[in-house]
Amino acid sequence: MFIKTFVILNLSVWIHSVKVIYESQTSSCYSNGKPQQCLPSFTNIIEDVKVETTSTCGTNGPEQICRNWYDRSTTEARQYCSICDAKHRSYPPLHLTDRHIPNNQTCWFSGPLQEVSGQNEVNITVALKKSFEVYYVALQICGTLPDSIAIYKSLDFGVTWRPWQFFSQDCYRAFKMPTTNEQNSQITPTNIQEVLCVELKAPDRYNDFGQAETVLPFSTTVGRPSGPPWSQSLIEWMTMTNLKISLMRFPPVKSTPDRYKELFYHTETLPHGLPNSINYKSEPIVHFGLSDLAVGGRCKCNGHASRCLIDDNDEIRCDCHHNTEGQDCERCKSNYLDRPWHRATRQNANVCKYCDCNLHSYRCNFNHQLYVKNNFTNGGVCINCQHNTTGNNCEICQNGYYRNWTKPQEHRSACISCKCHTIGSIKPNECHKKTGQCYCKDGVTGQTCDRCKEGYKQTNSHCHV
Ligand SMILES: *[C@@H]1O[C@H](CO)[C@@H](O)[C@H](O)[C@H]1NC(C)=O
Ligand SMILES: *[C@@H]1O[C@H](CO)[C@@H](O)[C@H](O)[C@H]1NC(C)=O
Ligand SMILES: *[C@@H]1O[C@H](CO)[C@@H](O)[C@H](O)[C@H]1NC(C)=O
Ligand SMILES: *[C@@H]1O[C@H](CO)[C@@H](O)[C@H](O)[C@H]1NC(C)=O
Ligand SMILES: *[C@@H]1O[C@H](CO)[C@@H](O)[C@H](O)[C@H]1NC(C)=O
Repeated sequence: MFIKTFVILNLSVWIHSVKVIYESQTSSCYSNGKPQQCLPSFTNIIEDVKVETTSTCGTNGPEQICRNWYDRSTTEARQYCSICDAKHRSYPPLHLTDRHIPNNQTCWFSGPLQEVSGQNEVNITVALKKSFEVYYVALQICGTLPDSIAIYKSLDFGVTWRPWQFFSQDCYRAFKMPTTNEQNSQITPTNIQEVLCVELKAPDRYNDFGQAETVLPFSTTVGRPSGPPWSQSLIEWMTMTNLKISLMRFPPVKSTPDRYKELFYHTETLPHGLPNSINYKSEPIVHFGLSDLAVGGRCKCNGHASRCLIDDNDEIRCDCHHNTEGQDCERCKSNYLDRPWHRATRQNANVCKYCDCNLHSYRCNFNHQLYVKNNFTNGGVCINCQHNTTGNNCEICQNGYYRNWTKPQEHRSACISCKCHTIGSIKPNECHKKTGQCYCKDGVTGQTCDRCKEGYKQTNSHCHV
């Protein structure tokens, strides 16, 4: 769906086309005029999103790729080989995120992985250009099972990466970590962001071409305290902007000559400089492949939007409600800072509250001390009050002005300038802010200090006895 918004800037008209994505048809930010938590749809957020891989088969000319797998039903080791050729029969990264058709799966295959050449892993990365809240990452293996799989995420658009989950056939050998599973990991609210290494098991079923028919799932919430309301720490654990998946072979454990001997055992071709003793065997070339990569989650809008928008520049942001703004609706709008921003929950939409500046200002700052003093109801301090007003809510007249009570407080001339007699008053430019009473010299009286008190006489400049 496309919507057009017209933005008028400096008298020229810019037409922006904005495309709606991840829209929920059922989650609404208001119900009968009342604000409520709203969320973009739960989907495979990387469907059709561009994926990058550090290697792909066939990029350096045609090569043979063999998928090796173990068939549990026949208890046989099986193999299916094909040629990967960038032009004719290719297995590009876009096959990872194309629409998943169960009986016609497309696979991506990596370039060759060879321990001797130092290529022990292939990385798959996805950049989403925005924060998303992820519930699961699911991989579907095509052919040879890696020794280990590491899932990393970034919260800062790929600047830094942190591990999210490891899978390995031997967690200790690969990551020096114990093998755990979600059920026995004993994760509590205090270690909710603990990274686990889970046993990597071969998929239960494969088709005749070596494509796994079951997925390998990583759930971000299973086994972690995740009842509502979610903790801040769990939310952070689930959030990512970029995803990286490393498909790996085990790191070498033996000293290099021994390892080479093992790898090249039974072969005539020896790497340069190795002892020329018995036969060495050539290392089998491995290609890793996946038929599907899916990430179940939502565009992160903190409960304040039911859809996200993507503009001409490919920038994604939430379509924020509840007086919030920002890419993820992560802050209150500038004139809605009367209390701190909060994520919407099922119980409370946590709408950002308008600062009451009595129409004398449209901007405010949040002041925490004031908020505490006001019993956590409001803490907004209006900025740059106009019309000669001042005060946290522009509710007081500035020095030199007093309140005309017959005008409403919001009126542009609710505060009028003091009219004090220049000779009769002590401070001619000041008066009582509420009554307008000027401050009179001795013996002088009247609202504007323009008369002598009873019993005083007037001379040129004084009232005296
Ligand atoms: C399977 O997918 C390929 C590649 O997208 C396509 O060319 C082919 O027609 C599909 N086959 C069937 C049976 O859908
Ligand atoms: C794969 O990603 C990991 C983790 O960020 C990094 O250490 C490694 O160098 C990457 N490998 C390649 C081949 O880019
Ligand atoms: C502050 O809020 C509490 C609880 O809502 C209430 O019981 C108390 O009376 C309030 N105090 C003031 C000074 O408004
Ligand atoms: C504030 O008072 C000054 C006179 O001191 C006046 O010129 C000005 O118009 C007043 N501002 C407004 C917005 O009424
Ligand atoms: C106060 O407001 C009333 C009503 O608008 C107006 O008639 C009156 O002139 C104002 N008084 C002064 C002193 O400006």
